[in-house]
Amino acid sequence: MSTARLEYNGQSWDFPVVEGTENELGVDISELRAKSGLITLDEGYGNTGSCKSAITYIDGDKGILRYRGYPIEQIAEQSSFVESAWLVIYGELPNEKQRERFSALLTKHAMIHESMRNHFQGFPNNAPPMAILSAMINAIGCFSPEVLGSDTEANFEENAARLLSQVRSIAAATYKMSMGQPMMYPRPDFKYCENFLHMMFSVPNGRITPDPDAARALNQFLTLHADHEQNCSTSTVRMVASSGANMYASVSAGVSALWGPLHGGANVAVVNMLEEIRSSGMDPHVYMEKIKDKNSKLKLMGFGHRVYRNFDPRSRILQKAAEVILSKLKIQDPLLEIARRLEEVALRDSYFVDRKLYPNVDFYSGIILRAIGIPLDMFTVMFAIGRMPGWIANYKEIHDAERLKINRPRQIYTGAAIRDFVPRDARVQ
Ligand code: CMC
Repeated sequence: MSTARLEYNGQSWDFPVVEGTENELGVDISELRAKSGLITLDEGYGNTGSCKSAITYIDGDKGILRYRGYPIEQIAEQSSFVESAWLVIYGELPNEKQRERFSALLTKHAMIHESMRNHFQGFPNNAPPMAILSAMINAIGCFSPEVLGSDTEANFEENAARLLSQVRSIAAATYKMSMGQPMMYPRPDFKYCENFLHMMFSVPNGRITPDPDAARALNQFLTLHADHEQNCSTSTVRMVASSGANMYASVSAGVSALWGPLHGGANVAVVNMLEEIRSSGMDPHVYMEKIKDKNSKLKLMGFGHRVYRNFDPRSRILQKAAEVILSKLKIQDPLLEIARRLEEVALRDSYFVDRKLYPNVDFYSGIILRAIGIPLDMFTVMFAIGRMPGWIANYKEIHDAERLKINRPRQIYTGAAIRDFVPRDARVQ
């Protein structure tokens, strides 16, 4: 086993170097503090491996993404969201029996508890859908106390299927509530994505037949979002799960983490940015100059990534998928053209080239969602539906670990040194 040596103050310590499947290396510093009294400081965790995980592999320099060893390009082309969810959660592609069993569980759990309607009605019509989603995921747990917290394999499967199935029912119900329309019940004869489109766009006196092209595009969108190793929301899920919290509580926290515009909220920010350029008639070059001006504090949304210093492979697939769905549905979206032009400018501009900033998953995904009729304020919810398998799989890794170890980082304290308490009447007013 190779080791790495740390020297400080005339002393030195050796630490084991661990190697992953793809030869990526990490220094195991779990005994650093015990041996040396030191800790590491890595704000934003850019150099910190928080866990060992067997779910997803990313090589950010080469633009590689694999779920359980399978290249994302092959999965996006040949698999479905439900199948890739099984793969991400359980580690292997399902056989026929497993597929049927899982599909049956998804159908069984598609309907949310009838009492949850009251919860929906308690929110104002303009409540942010991500806030509702996070709250409702915790609420589902309350309606399944028999499986909450118990850790048999069958219960895990029930919980996983319930979450995966109901996240889409909650999303659709949230939309219906915002529209003042009755919530639609799921249909057992529809597949996962068709059923979602039905629950979103059918009304009791006008049922839609989900468009197969829209369902296919949605399937691909969700599949491409299924997991992305230790991103902000997944790390949050693992953090919460490490305290022994149940799957619903852990995943609900992940939804909150995803909400931010630097993470899942970026898909909304991209469309707002493209809309702003379109409505102002601004030349994309001019917009880029504004971004490069550090005083503007603007970012090219949908560009850059903590891990990818090359193309995000998902963005290439989504760009093609956006073109396909627009052409199939015979939609002309001016935002696609603006996005293409921004990308062209960025890929030639030294600001972006030097910083290795390329389009990420959010750059083209919004164009697909718009094409299939998803309203802008639901975009991040769509990301959350897609990311559900990854959150569940990461929860499972924590849950199945031989020893549950709470995640508890340390800090370097930079506050005031010890001082005496000042009584109220002696304080500077
Ligand atoms: N536009 C303009 N400049 C950028 C951008 C961007 N999108 N991203 C990074 N930079 C600059 C940044 O200002 C910094 O410049 P300098 O070295 O001069 O200070 C340099 O590039 C390095 O950036 P960083 O902020 O240290 O990079 P990070 O790894 O901390 O952040 C990021 C990654 C994704 C948060 C960031 O690239 C960003 O804010 N992008 C826009 C938001 C976005 O699209 N988020 C979706 C991410 S992918 C999906 C997901 O994870 O949810």
